[in-house]
Amino acid sequence: MVPFIQEKGIVMQCWYPLGGRGHTAELLGDDTIEAIAKTHGVSSAQVILRWDLQRGIVVIPGSSNPEHIKENLDLFNFELTADEMEQINSLDRNEKHDWY
Ligand SMILES: NC(=O)c1ccc[n+]([C@@H]2O[C@H](COP(=O)([O-])OP(=O)(O)OC[C@H]3O[C@@H](n4cnc5c(N)ncnc54)[C@H](OP(=O)(O)O)[C@@H]3O)[C@@H](O)[C@H]2O)c1
Repeated sequence: MVPFIQEKGIVMQCWYPLGGRGHTAELLGDDTIEAIAKTHGVSSAQVILRWDLQRGIVVIPGSSNPEHIKENLDLFNFELTADEMEQINSLDRNEKHDWY
């Protein structure tokens, strides 16, 4: 669906990029995400947000923690490799959540 939308020149936005308030533990604690984060010296949240950006998707993370807000803006000093992008893509469970 994402490539189909992007081919039409429509920008996709990701709301709840970290799983949504109260539901972040599974994504932020994922072994694959954590390992990639360690490689780059960044947090799991930054890896997830960077993965979205590298797919041309606008991210709207929510945070009430000033340190997290700074972290979530600091996404432009590292780049995920094609292999890392593919590792994250392969976590897809073909589940449908909210689509608008
Ligand atoms: N209009 C709509 O239809 C619609 C639909 C969905 C979502 N939204 C909006 O989209 C935004 C995002 O939704 P959301 O906040 O539920 O989902 P989210 O961004 O996936 O998750 C937010 C959660 O992640 C934590 N977090 C954020 N940055 C972090 C970091 N760097 N490290 C660790 N934890 C981090 C936050 O805790 P801390 O506060 O402790 O950082 C919060 O618990 C919100 O503004 C929401 O209102 C709107």
